[in-house]
Amino acid sequence: MLGDSTPSVIAVGGGTLLHPKSRAAAFSSARVVTLTAPAQTLLDRSTHGPVRPLLHAAPNPLEKVRELLAQRANVYAEAHASVCTEGCTAEQAANAVIRAWKNPAIVVSLGARSYPVRFASPKSHVFAQKSANLPTTANAAQLVADVLSTLQPSHWMVVTDFTVQALWGFTFIETVSHLHSTPLATVVLRPGETNKTLAGVQTILENAVEQGADRSTVIVALGGGVVSDMAGLAASLLFRGVKWVSVPTTLLSMADAAIGGKTGVDLGFAKNAVGTFHQPSAVVIDPRHVTTEAHRAYVSGLSEIVKSAAVADPTLLNYVEEHALSLAARDLPTVETAVFGAARVKSTIVAADEREDPSAPLSRAVLNFGHTLGHALEAAGGFDNLTHGEAVSLGIVGALRVGKRLGFTPSHVVERITQLLSTLGLPTRLTRADVQAALPYLVNDKKRLQNKVRAVFLRDEGQAFVHPIALSDLSALYLEAVET
Ligand SMILES: NC(=O)c1ccc[n+]([C@@H]2O[C@H](COP(=O)([O-])OP(=O)(O)OC[C@H]3O[C@@H](n4cnc5c(N)ncnc54)[C@H](O)[C@@H]3O)[C@@H](O)[C@H]2O)c1
Repeated sequence: MLGDSTPSVIAVGGGTLLHPKSRAAAFSSARVVTLTAPAQTLLDRSTHGPVRPLLHAAPNPLEKVRELLAQRANVYAEAHASVCTEGCTAEQAANAVIRAWKNPAIVVSLGARSYPVRFASPKSHVFAQKSANLPTTANAAQLVADVLSTLQPSHWMVVTDFTVQALWGFTFIETVSHLHSTPLATVVLRPGETNKTLAGVQTILENAVEQGADRSTVIVALGGGVVSDMAGLAASLLFRGVKWVSVPTTLLSMADAAIGGKTGVDLGFAKNAVGTFHQPSAVVIDPRHVTTEAHRAYVSGLSEIVKSAAVADPTLLNYVEEHALSLAARDLPTVETAVFGAARVKSTIVAADEREDPSAPLSRAVLNFGHTLGHALEAAGGFDNLTHGEAVSLGIVGALRVGKRLGFTPSHVVERITQLLSTLGLPTRLTRADVQAALPYLVNDKKRLQNKVRAVFLRDEGQAFVHPIALSDLSALYLEAVET
């Protein structure tokens, strides 16, 4: 039935996905939605209908339900969406399932910590308008309300910044609150990288406690990479860890920052020097958010898409190249396709190496392509002269040229990717003065081990690798890579 191209809904018993073959078939060709409810509710429901042999024979049926849920948690966590069936009507639960079916999703596969990256997509919006008998609401707020209904928190707390609050935040909060009645707390931060500090995280934590947060509070980060890095860090610290959901509102955070569970703040000039790994429970991407981004911020986000394509996905690289003009014009279906591609790269790599283990076969460190020099350039500019994405673009050019100098990267790859960055409106001109100013900040590189940096180079398009190199050698090579 799964191989059949006719659209179908296949309702399976709770144990079906435990079988590796059924699981592989379901995840490769279908959208998988789990229906959840508290253990007691499941037990009460099981008393109606046919006898359940597993429960019937158990001395303590409630304990048996809990045991089965625990055994299945890893598999259920990998679903494209979970829909809670407690405290809602059958129609509301069915509508949540329809939203899960209509909107694309990627799963970051990490056992019990797996989570979906769900898209409130412009494409599905058009589809919804054409399908008069289906609900049309599938925006970020709706999907977040669905996630909250499943997580069942005591409070939900929105962390955003002043810019995003004014543009999207009020409507977002109003819509989620309308759909989901859990008490709300809000924290509004000052925007921008210069505010990505421990003091900002302290503000989030103090506000959370003052507004009555407890261990089942869910933090919802609504904003760019700065907000998600800080809210994620706060979520990992609050009461030793609460759940969080990321709703990225910049192109850069949709394509990269919101996914993967790296949280952090800058410490002085040391970029992302303090942080944790704390995976979100869901990421909800609405590409329409990019429509209000400032031109410079939007273009900056394209650099992380080029990075993901360059390190792991030649097809995405072709797509970005062929659709550069549509991307620059923010054509939403094109933006969605590019973000989806980059999010898939990031999800795959994070699933293969969650914590940047040097021995992992597909190392997460390859996602740092362009970031060694990029972070140093960003710090040298006081986190104010260059955006993160602009610094990454220059860092990619540096890594390409040094890769070529070391005999790793073919010239045509250097030229092609540099040209693409330039076509997209990103900076590619590395000056001696800029590199010289950046070199002192290379020592702050988190990937440094003693005097060696784990630099990332390309062997070809889509083929990145980590190459440890002495800091002094790398500095000299960057200086050779400047414009003459
Ligand atoms: N954790 C990770 O894995 C990871 C990966 C990549 C980057 N990052 C981090 O992400 C940060 C950069 O993220 P960013 O580029 O999103 O920057 P940002 O969060 O500073 O956002 C840029 C600006 O755009 C504003 N903004 C956000 N959404 C908007 C919208 N929809 N419309 C109008 N304005 C909007 C913000 O208020 C801010 O002023 C850096 O700190 C970087 O270190 C983290």
